[in-house]
Amino acid sequence: MNPVLANKQIVVGVTGGIAAYKSADFVRRLREAGAVVRVVMTDHAKAFITPLTMQAVSGHPVYDDLFDLQAEAAMGHIELARWADAMVIAPATADVMAKIAHGEANDLLTTLCLATRAKLILVPAMNQVMWENSLTQANVQALQTKHMYIWGPGTGSQACGEVGPGRMLEPITLVEQLSALFMTGSLSGKQVLITAGPTHEAIDPVRYITNVSSGKMGYALAESAIEAGAHVTLISGPVHLVPPVRAEYIPVISARQMYNAVLQRVKDCDIFLSVAAVSDYHCQSVASQKIAKSAEQLTLVLERNPDILATVAELPTRPYLVGFAAETDHLISKAQAKWTKKKLDMIIANEVGEQKGMGQEDNTVTVLWKNQQKAFATMSKVKLARELIALIAGEIHNGRSH
Ligand code: C5P
Repeated sequence: MNPVLANKQIVVGVTGGIAAYKSADFVRRLREAGAVVRVVMTDHAKAFITPLTMQAVSGHPVYDDLFDLQAEAAMGHIELARWADAMVIAPATADVMAKIAHGEANDLLTTLCLATRAKLILVPAMNQVMWENSLTQANVQALQTKHMYIWGPGTGSQACGEVGPGRMLEPITLVEQLSALFMTGSLSGKQVLITAGPTHEAIDPVRYITNVSSGKMGYALAESAIEAGAHVTLISGPVHLVPPVRAEYIPVISARQMYNAVLQRVKDCDIFLSVAAVSDYHCQSVASQKIAKSAEQLTLVLERNPDILATVAELPTRPYLVGFAAETDHLISKAQAKWTKKKLDMIIANEVGEQKGMGQEDNTVTVLWKNQQKAFATMSKVKLARELIALIAGEIHNGRSH
């Protein structure tokens, strides 16, 4: 039983994609968490999973027909739309996303989407080329501007044999995210500034120096801080992620642009989460034309970038400061040294290297603050973000700082 989801009323919509086989597990887990579930299926969904299966796992007859007299007599579609605390469409095909984005309501599921005031969550699952198609992406944007949640898709091998973004998120992740969606208030009224992603330091007009940071940890922290009720400003280096719809979003390219953006906005913030993997150096001079291949060796002269976090730490009124220490070796001692040197309130140490930390879906961290230390098990960045936000919120409320 999960106290946040207990007795929450959830409509699970299932549309026609191979990932529909995961929907049964999702419903089962929701019920285990204490939620009450009603399932709505499209006709195409039934080609992948039977209504009997969904009825068995949800404990209720499946809704599948807008004009079913019997179902309407039991609980009409408007009543079902009102009943829901949240509607989760998992999997959501490109087709259903297009329909909802355009306000269509020609079947039960899309009608419910128009008729509900509940939180509406779409969990895309489709071939990677379909996901990346600009028409699908335009629909995603439209849905997000209407305050619908798009969770995922995950990246990896697909049923069609391709590898890329388009996998439906795992049911366990969906249950966790839904739980977090209902859990708000721990950072209510707080201003949170977050940097995320890598920076690009230009070499010439077509080349730059960067690192493997994907921005996933910073974006997950931004989502979690929003869920906790904070007003979030996200200053992001170049990444391939959709910014959280409720964050104030400031894209930057270079470390020095990030530095300026942070210093402009840090004055009014309560918490600064410095998650970005800021490039330590930039090229002393950027070639105005593409550097041609000629000599056997090419020397680039690099100059230090300003340390954004250390600069903020020296401000006369500083926010609660959280830094990251990404290390390949001597994790704890190096993180401890950075905590002291940069005068941080908290440092999150994560081991990086091949298949670890940066750029990955999962992360393993140890958090150091004051005289305390807490090691977290390896978990998804989304889940970890929530745990970190809960920890930070606890420290803020207890008035603890460096
Ligand atoms: O010293 P190091 O780069 O390992 O410190 C990492 C922490 O400092 C991270 O929180 C990172 O966001 C921040 N940082 C920064 N500006 C830099 C370099 C790092 O804010 N130029």
